[in-house]
Amino acid sequence: MRIITGSAKGTRLETLEGEMTRPTSEKVKEAIFSMIQFDVEGKRILDLFGGSGQLGLEALSRGADIATFVDSSREAAELIKKGEVVAIPTETVYGLAADAYNPEACAKIFKAKGRPQDNPLIIHICDLDMLKNSVKEIPPLALTLAEHFWSGSLTMIFPKKDIVPDTTSGGLDTVAVRMPDNEDTLNLIKMCGVPLAAPSANLSGSPSPTTAQHVYADMNGRIPLIIDGGECKNGVESTVICFTNGGTGIKVLRPGVITAEMLSRFAKTETDKNVFAKPDENEKVISPGVKYKHYSPRADITIIETDSDEKLAEFLNSKNDGGTYGVIFGGEKGIEVPTISYGSTAQEQAHNLFAVLRKTDELGAKRVYVRCPEKTGVGTAVYNRLLRAAAFKTIIL
Ligand code: TXA
Ligand code: MG
Repeated sequence: MRIITGSAKGTRLETLEGEMTRPTSEKVKEAIFSMIQFDVEGKRILDLFGGSGQLGLEALSRGADIATFVDSSREAAELIKKGEVVAIPTETVYGLAADAYNPEACAKIFKAKGRPQDNPLIIHICDLDMLKNSVKEIPPLALTLAEHFWSGSLTMIFPKKDIVPDTTSGGLDTVAVRMPDNEDTLNLIKMCGVPLAAPSANLSGSPSPTTAQHVYADMNGRIPLIIDGGECKNGVESTVICFTNGGTGIKVLRPGVITAEMLSRFAKTETDKNVFAKPDENEKVISPGVKYKHYSPRADITIIETDSDEKLAEFLNSKNDGGTYGVIFGGEKGIEVPTISYGSTAQEQAHNLFAVLRKTDELGAKRVYVRCPEKTGVGTAVYNRLLRAAAFKTIIL
């Protein structure tokens, strides 16, 4: 077995060779923590960009073989240029990336996710030239927002140019664009020379992945490569907006950590009604994603709205049948069913929500009651995802 380390930018640092099945020396551990490509049960996983190295360590502890790799970002770019799909880290959630201008490559994303064809993909750019190359009109307000929020978790919708194929835009004449806040992913986009179309890297309907392990759980056998960039900073997807009033107003279609309050400093900002409501059957929605059940683990999810710790405990204890779990803020007393805390601030809850929902599946939960977050600021993003995970089922105590 061979291990070769390199730097995030693809420079070879040193080569270690030898027979080994687990990290036996500090030097090897160091190598593992930098950038190596692992082979886990025949599936290749790329661990680079200063990522946590967790997948690699887990692979080693199970006695997996390690494959050889040096220049990981170049290999990822080559795969993408060949029309393949690669999972990439971003500051929000992991994405399933392909050349946004290549319809066959983007079709592979839909196939890997099991995503409905009419649900458009976000394209990820590394500079404003890529924006200009992809869209017909850029309102001055968009440039102001780009200046303030890019690189970052704001996705803006523009009329698309023909270079963006219908497969990418789900048949719409618009395209959603963002510049992710992850230096290595920006470098990867630069190496590819084209925007990367990337939806969240989960199976359609499942909670979005915030670690490479989550991606592996959903995409094992479906894509050739996962880039392990460690845990995502935000934990919820980007804020999606469109422009109203001839490009002078903002409408939030999906809330994120860039809040409506933050956007309203730049222009009149409204929130689309489907952010918190179930679209009517046959309603024509602006953002096709809102039609689908989303973010949901296998367990049945219900939101519990209450100000009272006592009422919450009383309710959960009345459901104590072995399959019931509570997802709580943390510190609530008197609860007899198993609980997982997803944090007491909206930021923490955004960061932890999807990982906690996935955890409930691992624990074999049948029913999960999640304490409702605040409905302001970043809390709106958490509440929006929870509503869809729970298919809008809410109990008020
Ligand atoms: O943070 C994020 O945005 C992540 C990372 C990977 O960048 N991506 C992400 O993509 O969440 P996805 O495909 O899971 O969600 C994109 C959402 C969907 O609800 C989709 O319907 C909506 O954005 N969307 C995309 N293009 C659109 C368009 N042209 N018009 C309206 N809605 C659009
Ligand atoms: Mg998604």
